[in-house]
Amino acid sequence: MNEQINELKVQLDSQLSQVSTTQELEGIRVAFLGKNGSITELLKKMGGLSPEEKKSFGQAVNVLKGYATQAIAAKVEELNKIELEKELNALPEIDLSAPTHLVKGSYHPITLVQRHCENVFRTMGFNIEDYSEVVTDYECFEALNIPKFHPARDMQDTYYLENGQLLKSHTSAAQNAIYKKYKDDLINEGRPIRAIFPGRCFRNESTDACHENTFFQMEGVMVDKNISISNLIFFMKTMLSEVFQRDLKVRLRPGFFPFVEPGFELDISCAICGGEGCPSCKHSGWLELCPCGMIHPNVLKEGGIDPDEYTGFAFGLGLTRLAMMKYGVKDIRDLNSGNLTSLDQFTDDK
Ligand code: DAH
Repeated sequence: MNEQINELKVQLDSQLSQVSTTQELEGIRVAFLGKNGSITELLKKMGGLSPEEKKSFGQAVNVLKGYATQAIAAKVEELNKIELEKELNALPEIDLSAPTHLVKGSYHPITLVQRHCENVFRTMGFNIEDYSEVVTDYECFEALNIPKFHPARDMQDTYYLENGQLLKSHTSAAQNAIYKKYKDDLINEGRPIRAIFPGRCFRNESTDACHENTFFQMEGVMVDKNISISNLIFFMKTMLSEVFQRDLKVRLRPGFFPFVEPGFELDISCAICGGEGCPSCKHSGWLELCPCGMIHPNVLKEGGIDPDEYTGFAFGLGLTRLAMMKYGVKDIRDLNSGNLTSLDQFTDDK
């Protein structure tokens, strides 16, 4: 009987020394330790033995069983290691020093245009104001001479919160707060109000290449004694020439906005064709860029400023529009896409 045990051990050792895959090894395990495996069979044969023999034979078989289990487990580990190494060696070599197509971080085109405009205005003595994106109906409409049910609200449908507040549909929503903030300096110390407020605006819009539900504007106001339309025209022309860094022709057309009287659409000679006419300006030679006007007396009054004593102008520069013109962005949706590869290409300074 003991010979049989030794014989099995020799067989097992020899088979284990030749095995080269985990599948083969599994076959060996079943052949020795499986339900009908040779070691299991040995145990079954014990029925006909005397109690003494049973004891010593049983022990010997169990020792063999333990040995086989351990030897097979050790082999599993060894083969797994070898197979993993083989798989790793089969992988293509990775050159960690090879150049990649990583996108370098850069400022968003709108941020660049905004900063450029802010610098121009700063040199003209303007304060740069920050303003909330969530505003009240009063700030966005009522204080701007747009009472409830005024048809001008149709153009400015936006997103309303459950508490009645809304996401501002234009940067003009900051006008009232700015007048209130600076009116004492104006009235008591004769310091004109000069402020710009860039910001994100929202509208309930069906999006296409030219329309987005989120875009940027930059509002500007100037209030003092004796501010006239000539001041407005001179200022807008100078400011836009600075922004575009060349002398621009501007023209005013009448435009209706309830918070200015008179109100204008301001066009600039097309920056792309120089006024000759091209697809960008629909062959007219002019681009609509910056609505503006003389601040309506009701709006000044609402801001705590006497319209009989003071006058002023306001304008709303489309920052998104400006960025698209400057960087030749054809589809407005690219600007909000978060696609770094497409945004990166418009950026000249990082
Ligand atoms: N807030 C207006 C809009 O988004 C634009 C505008 C028009 C602003 C005339 C002004 C202005 O300051 O004077 O449609």
